[in-house]
Amino acid sequence: MTDRITLQVERYRPEQETEPTWQSYEVPLREDWSVLDGLNYVKDHLDGTLSYRWSCRMGICGSCGMTVDGDPTLTCAELLTDHSPGPVQVGPLRNFPVIRDLVVDIDDFMHKLVRVKPWIVREDDDQPVSEGEYLQTPAQMDEYQQYSMCINCMICYAACPVYGLDEQFVGPAAIALAQRYNLDSRDQGARDRLDVLIHPDGVWGCTFVGECTRACPKDVDPAGAIQRYKLTAATESLRSFLLPRGAR
Ligand code: FES
Repeated sequence: MTDRITLQVERYRPEQETEPTWQSYEVPLREDWSVLDGLNYVKDHLDGTLSYRWSCRMGICGSCGMTVDGDPTLTCAELLTDHSPGPVQVGPLRNFPVIRDLVVDIDDFMHKLVRVKPWIVREDDDQPVSEGEYLQTPAQMDEYQQYSMCINCMICYAACPVYGLDEQFVGPAAIALAQRYNLDSRDQGARDRLDVLIHPDGVWGCTFVGECTRACPKDVDPAGAIQRYKLTAATESLRSFLLPRGAR
């Protein structure tokens, strides 16, 4: 194994350039170095103008998602040696507008997240909590725990061909997080989320390609959450159709 590897990095300043270009950098190839370590080497030693996001370096914050050799990936969790002898191509996450180089605009995702209320909704929110806590059994926690592993890295959106074609689609992580709270025994907000999820741009937009689940670095199963909610949505629609308004 050589002790160097080439990173080919997509560079783009949309306000000055009409299209992205590739720029090559040679970085040390160390056994414990991630792709993010390689980018940090570029930034610190070769080219301080390179722009990208990162924070925790341990697969927690979700900010370092990029496209590595064609796949949406957490760059802090992807070893350079797995791409040896290289070159390794690093680009921004697909399906999002580029702000600069490897930094994408996350506004669309943030708006979608807020729409599904990814927090515990309580009807007694304005009341003091009389007993101090809402107890939950381990079995009740198991219901939603898998979905709570989502770190909002947007890798599932970059992998999703439906979102790539139709940015109105609410998308995998937002729906998985909606389910995370719908399945939480302490939550009372499922009805608030229903309108968003049963809309044509909600769960019915998903064609079950399953790339979101395959790409998720935290082993969340957004595709499974969406299919599971389709059953809920169908049942709710039938209920609304069959029951008189006052009985729903
Ligand atoms: S830097 Fe936080 S997940 Fe990679």
